[in-house]
Amino acid sequence: MKKILVTGGAGFIGSNFINYILKSRDDYFIVNLDKLTYAGNLENLKEIESNKNYTFIKGDITNSELVNYIYEKYKIKHVINFAAESHVDRSISGSEIFFRTNVIGTNVLLEASRRFEVERFLQISTDEVYGSLGATGLFTEQTPISPNSPYSASKAASDMMVQAFHHTYGLPIVITRCSNNYGPLQFPEKLIPLMILNTLQNKKLPVYGDGMNVRDWIYVIDHNKAVELVFEKGRLGEVYNIGASNEMPNLEIIKLILQNLKKGEELIQYVKDRPGHDRRYAIDSTKIQTELGWRPEFQFDSAIQKTIEWYLQNKSWWERIISGEYQSYYQQQYLSK
Ligand code: NAD
Ligand code: TYD
Repeated sequence: MKKILVTGGAGFIGSNFINYILKSRDDYFIVNLDKLTYAGNLENLKEIESNKNYTFIKGDITNSELVNYIYEKYKIKHVINFAAESHVDRSISGSEIFFRTNVIGTNVLLEASRRFEVERFLQISTDEVYGSLGATGLFTEQTPISPNSPYSASKAASDMMVQAFHHTYGLPIVITRCSNNYGPLQFPEKLIPLMILNTLQNKKLPVYGDGMNVRDWIYVIDHNKAVELVFEKGRLGEVYNIGASNEMPNLEIIKLILQNLKKGEELIQYVKDRPGHDRRYAIDSTKIQTELGWRPEFQFDSAIQKTIEWYLQNKSWWERIISGEYQSYYQQQYLSK
């Protein structure tokens, strides 16, 4: 039995990971450490909350006393660090919490991992650490780190610390850098769920700039299967890019959502561009494909449909979210400028 500390397991990707992994294997015991920020939601885990191979601890990864206690109590030898502040727009409004959680928090986990002689530490990173592409080219693992937003800079800094612990202390680490995820349970501040929910409520769809910024979209389960593979078999000290070769301009996605929900394009509203907005991300995932045999399994057209369907069928999940603190976020981000 592998005792795995999963951090940030109540967020979008982490909860999809835990739900998927506990259903598909019985050789993992998961300790989920999550601060339950605005983005963390225990409802995401209700299907597995009483699983005998699962326990939840509410806490902050920057709290080294708590982190050390958990490593000791659960004899943690494996770590998957999903916990982060993850939204670019929020990082532009205020960077401090991004530095605290993403950089200091990762450092606390690294120190504890060194002390307790962890056998594998997987850092969940992002393609955004590579910066922005022009019209052509792809991010490979050799692309120089060149982050632009406070969010991506904090993720790049944590990656550097993870690599430094490998080089300096021989800590057995691996890093994954994935492109933009979509799927069930995503907090409606990110493009796809925001546009789905606004469409459903006949609210305007705020398009930044000319709407032609490109992201490379991957279904969250494809990401999580890649995470499982890198966690099991990735070579220590290595970085693995993860992406499904599915580049799309934002406007195309928004129009597809409108079509799917049978609404008209008059809902589209061009708004002021995001400051420092990265133009294009696109991933070369040759390394994980050739070394570990990973392949994306979900096609965008059907997986986006499945995602929209999920939001239609889980109205109470998102109604609870958008009735709380979300309203003041929305007001500040979209209505007060
Ligand atoms: P999310 O914002 O949905 O979830 C983050 C989770 O971390 C939440 O449950 C939150 O409560 C928890 N958390 C935040 N601060 C914490 C702290 N100090 N201590 C403990 N828990 C804390 O994010 P997500 O979209 O699920 O992203 C998960 C990871 O994947 C992040 O590291 C992110 O950088 C990375 N990533 C995300 C994407 C994407 O498209 N969403 C793409 C590539 C990489
Ligand atoms: P986002 O989901 O925030 O992911 P990231 O910036 O980390 O890639 O945004 C995806 C794209 O959608 C990005 O180009 C910004 C754009 N966008 C909008 O046009 N309007 C919005 O309201 C949001 C949230 C994003």
